[in-house]
Amino acid sequence: MNNERTDIDGDLVEAGLSDDAQADLLSRGYSRRSLGRVLALLTAGPAAAGLAGAAFAQAPSQAAPPKATVRIGANECWTGPLEPAAKAAAAAVATGNRYTGSQRADFVNAAASVEKTPPSHIIPWAGSSDPLSRIVVTYCSPTRGLVIANPTFELAPSVARYIGAKVSEVPLTADYAHDVKAMLAADPNAGVYYVCTPNNPTSTVTGLADIEWLLANKPAGSIVLVDEAYIHFADAPTASYLVAQGKDVIVLRTFSKLFGMAGMRMAFTMARPDLMMKTMRYDGMMASFALPNPSVVCGAVSLVQADLIAARRAEMVKARDRSLALLDKRNIRYIPPRANFFMVDWKKPAKDVQAQFAKEGIEIGRSWPIWPNVSRITVGSAAEMDAFNAAVVKLNL
Ligand SMILES: Cc1ncc(COP(=O)(O)O)c(C=O)c1O
Repeated sequence: MNNERTDIDGDLVEAGLSDDAQADLLSRGYSRRSLGRVLALLTAGPAAAGLAGAAFAQAPSQAAPPKATVRIGANECWTGPLEPAAKAAAAAVATGNRYTGSQRADFVNAAASVEKTPPSHIIPWAGSSDPLSRIVVTYCSPTRGLVIANPTFELAPSVARYIGAKVSEVPLTADYAHDVKAMLAADPNAGVYYVCTPNNPTSTVTGLADIEWLLANKPAGSIVLVDEAYIHFADAPTASYLVAQGKDVIVLRTFSKLFGMAGMRMAFTMARPDLMMKTMRYDGMMASFALPNPSVVCGAVSLVQADLIAARRAEMVKARDRSLALLDKRNIRYIPPRANFFMVDWKKPAKDVQAQFAKEGIEIGRSWPIWPNVSRITVGSAAEMDAFNAAVVKLNL
């Protein structure tokens, strides 16, 4: 037993968990053994801890033939980075022999000016899954839970369960917004209230007045985590002004969606520096500073392309609305979407419908446990949505 303890202690110190950090984690109700799990998340990230798989799983592998030609299941963008951003990234590849110079600062300044947030409040990351997990580990614990909507993006609850924090799931309102009053009532002493807006998988937006209410009424020491992964596709107003106001809020952004950079791994957080410093105490500095120049440059140039962002959104809306019109015509119900995905109620098991589409070479999204008859469809290119529409007719759905 003693040997075991010594081994764990050694591992923790070697991996960068200082005595203070360990004492902090133990005071929050973690057992010494479970600190290894916290470390696994903070040093290797959610992918290595096997959690990202749970959140991203689209479950096409068994149903789909080896090569789905139409991929509208994983909420990716149908095309790559915006053209000026892709060009800048290519130039950064050509000068990749040099270590990072001003790229990180340029990115931070671009994000700060677009979001009207002080540069000190912006931190870049290699994708948003890392900070999302880190924030849950920092603010949740065995004594402070996580509150989420049901359904929502599962990475936060996967991480919370992994570290032994309580997860409270709260149904969405009748119009599919987060029910912030019920969320607070579900756990008045939670560490994190997670608001995903637009929400994955419902593609619906929660109003800023609700987020303000949650911030005004939440317990001390907790944070409201606003995940705006799909905000550019929805053209919804951002919560970033609450960051500038110094509230206990962290806003999460990714370049994996409208900006077409899922494989380039780029994201940023907006928050008061002290809120993020808590999440950086373990190894966050390295995670944020060790970013590849092409991704950082691509992100910085993407952010300022207001016209191209609007054009890509309009292209998505056009393709999306053609499919929705077809569903209307066939009396197939769906949740009115704001972003680049929509939930369709087939009135029969979504798994079977997914398998039917797979036989047509079309990879659609999965269902969520709360609605087993409902599939999430990601909006692809116009041609991909033509294929989806044709399959809806052919399969007589
Ligand atoms: C709501 C939401 N947040 C965060 C992520 C994580 O994305 P990434 O790690 O690529 O930034 C996703 C991915 O699908 C998502 O849907």
